[in-house]
Amino acid sequence: MVEKKNQDRKNIPWWKKTTIYQIYPRSFKDSTGNGIGDLRGIISKLDYVKDLGVETIWFSPFYSSPQADFGYDISDYQNIDPEYGTMDDFDDLVKNVHDRKMKIVLDLVLNHTSDQHNWFIESKSSRDNPKRDWYVWKDGKKPNGKAPPNNWKAVLTDCGWHYDTKTDQWYWAYFLPFQPDLNYRNPEVKMHMMDMIRFWLRKGVDGFRLDILGTVYEDPEFRNNPLSWKFFPTDDSMDVFFRSKKYTDNYPDNFEFAKELRKVIDEFQNPPRFLIGEISGTLEELRNYCGKDSPDGLNLVFIFQSMRTKLKVKKFHRLIQEFETYFPDPYIPTWVFSNHDFLRHISRFKEKNAIEKSKLYSVLQLTVRGVPTIYYGEEIGMRQHFLPFEESLDSVSLKFKKLPHLIQNFLLKISDYGLNRDGCRTPMQWNMDETAGFSPNPIDTWLPINPNYKSINVENSIEDKDSLFCCYQRFLKLRKKTPALNSGNITLMNLKTIPKKVFGYTRSAIIDGNEQMVYVYLNFGNKITTFHNPVPNSHLLSSTTISSQPLNSQNITLQPFEGIVLEK
Ligand code: NOJ
Repeated sequence: MVEKKNQDRKNIPWWKKTTIYQIYPRSFKDSTGNGIGDLRGIISKLDYVKDLGVETIWFSPFYSSPQADFGYDISDYQNIDPEYGTMDDFDDLVKNVHDRKMKIVLDLVLNHTSDQHNWFIESKSSRDNPKRDWYVWKDGKKPNGKAPPNNWKAVLTDCGWHYDTKTDQWYWAYFLPFQPDLNYRNPEVKMHMMDMIRFWLRKGVDGFRLDILGTVYEDPEFRNNPLSWKFFPTDDSMDVFFRSKKYTDNYPDNFEFAKELRKVIDEFQNPPRFLIGEISGTLEELRNYCGKDSPDGLNLVFIFQSMRTKLKVKKFHRLIQEFETYFPDPYIPTWVFSNHDFLRHISRFKEKNAIEKSKLYSVLQLTVRGVPTIYYGEEIGMRQHFLPFEESLDSVSLKFKKLPHLIQNFLLKISDYGLNRDGCRTPMQWNMDETAGFSPNPIDTWLPINPNYKSINVENSIEDKDSLFCCYQRFLKLRKKTPALNSGNITLMNLKTIPKKVFGYTRSAIIDGNEQMVYVYLNFGNKITTFHNPVPNSHLLSSTTISSQPLNSQNITLQPFEGIVLEK
């Protein structure tokens, strides 16, 4: 049995053990001096990413795009936008990432294109254009067709149908009006997109993050979405504003589509490639995208429930229990706290102990069972830049610009700053130079740099051995070399056996017939806590605090918000 387990360990695919770092290309490093990040800039910073210790880099889109949604509105899937560089720069990026033994993941926006894509321009030119059926067109409601075909809402809860006067029909756009949905029920569209995926795989791409995958297919009969009792979405239902999303979100055909995509990437082996889905849904729905009865769908899905979980022992205890229920081996959960769409998580905390809490989150993310994703700047504690709504560039915010401040602030809070995403996308803070080292010219960068860059920047973080950055670095290193942490089982400690504010779990793996056991204790409280050490002969592998000495012969003592990892 032990022998078998050991054998199984050798077959664990790399993507199950990996750590992901998300780069928002526009904001990472500008090499030309125009205030916008680019591929050459990223290449010049790959050693930094490597030294941090992450293994896979996911890039938000840098394909050709009018940039109305900063790349999530693609006008040519097989080209690089000149703002970011050229195809040669891209090939160089792949080579440089691989030379450093890291992996590269691209963002795939399959649900929609830009309205500036030639396909859409053709599609809307006339009803009998060969590309007409590449998008979702429909007659308006009878008698005169001047009302939308049904009650479907777009993401911002306004009507998702848009009238085209020339052809007197309506097109469907789940996200913003300039992002028309492609029609995957047309076999040509599907074939074309699958070939596009192969194009990038042949270029050496190791995986894809799939943008809003749950809305690719909607009901072919265009039935009205039913009413619901729910006003706000919750973890167990996405219904919003008294409307269910039955016929527009997570429609059954999307689950089949996930399997088809998986087949395409599995055509490429050595190394195997992977897909990670961005989907809103219940844990059950998310798991079903990975395959309901066997893992033959997406390899991974982001689970955003972790972003909304408060720093309370019981809440994380329950969350992990649920993750383990829905994603037991051979499935694997994912862990994410920040990304380019929501409030940077460090800014949820009071400034007084923001760093300590962020360290605690980093240890949690890097020691629980699952694939972690770190958002650029998270490792140095970059804060949300609370920019004025009136000056926002994010197209999601446009609709709300004229509202009174009080209402804007309310909406920002309830949407977790998803209604103005500029604040989590500001330029990376490299050093104390005028543009925080982001751009070679002292110019206005595409988004303003957070003025706190003089103290919060990479250079300072690397020098201070007790910084958040060094904490990430230590735990990334530890995770990489410790099989129990990167691919072992997890067992939650009984809440009654440790102090109330302490969260604990063990990770274990069999290596060459021996069991490796690792113990993780996280103090979620702001007080020093001492308790009996159940494993007296254990030793400290790492702590959030470098000067920490949490062990004595009998007891463990944790500083406020300290997290430690022990091994027997
Ligand atoms: C989700 C992405 O994360 C977001 O940034 C983008 O605006 C929408 N999908 C539309 O593609």
